[in-house]
Amino acid sequence: MQDFIDLSAWSGEALRQLIELAIHLKTEWQAGGNRPVLHGKVLAMVFQKPSLRTRVSFEVGMLHLGGHAIMLGPNEIGLGQRESIADVARVLSGYAQGIMARVFDHTHVTELAAHATVPVINGLSDDQHPCQAMSDMLTIYEHFGRLDGLRIAYIGDGNNMAVSLAQAAMHFGAQFALAAPEVYQLPAQAVAAAVALANSTGVTLEQHIDPEAAVRGADVIYTDTWVSMGQEGESAARLAALRPYQVNERLISQARRHAIVMHCLPAHRGQEITDGVADGPQSVIFQQAANRLHLQKAILVQLMR
Ligand code: CP
Ligand code: NVA
Repeated sequence: MQDFIDLSAWSGEALRQLIELAIHLKTEWQAGGNRPVLHGKVLAMVFQKPSLRTRVSFEVGMLHLGGHAIMLGPNEIGLGQRESIADVARVLSGYAQGIMARVFDHTHVTELAAHATVPVINGLSDDQHPCQAMSDMLTIYEHFGRLDGLRIAYIGDGNNMAVSLAQAAMHFGAQFALAAPEVYQLPAQAVAAAVALANSTGVTLEQHIDPEAAVRGADVIYTDTWVSMGQEGESAARLAALRPYQVNERLISQARRHAIVMHCLPAHRGQEITDGVADGPQSVIFQQAANRLHLQKAILVQLMR
């Protein structure tokens, strides 16, 4: 049994196969519909935080594959409060053939996996967002026809999104250049884990303070919120420190002419990204959102068939 929690637990080859399967499932869907390969199977979706894309794309994905998804919101099961995480994992394993969980503390998803007898998928934790990062690799691949040798610039907070993107970039031989203020750089442990995945010589993880240094020569410019879910109490300090890291028209003009602009959404327009860039010709943000469906179908098929 395999889980999808941390991209560093997967091989580059297995992740490549996931992208191939996603392309196959997307083509099949566009040609009239997917074969019901998950007929009769159920995905339990545990949410400790809000969601639009993750919740809807997993539910629709299960529907398209002939299965069913059950939404369990933060006030329903009381993960680790009404009942221990281990017991929730054991109980859900008796009803469902897979568990997808969105949590605060990353160890809560690993604890679920340790006690579940069905595959567990990380639908975002405070530390990582692997489903989004792999969906984004699909979007980048669709755009450029390759991943290796590209330069991905990530501008803003060195958060869960940045960690999973850095891991994916290293797996696929893409250069990853992050620009963030000193206090919001990637955690040192996450940098070490990502660098250990680098599959080709010459691919490195750059950490800059200056956003222009990261963006120069970039094929992809990525940003995310400055205040992640659970950090609301730090809003004022974060907004002040990260203001120079806005992805705006001036900044993207420093990248390669063909560069695409990405954001996992939800976007805070006027903060980390301007309306002009989010809605501009280089933006692929809604293609990214749509690709969550296709890439996660590949995860579901791979883990639950
Ligand atoms: N990008 C993303 O995970 O969106 P949601 O928080 O809406 O699921
Ligand atoms: N970094 C953001 C991603 C949301 C999809 C958060 O954790 O809130």
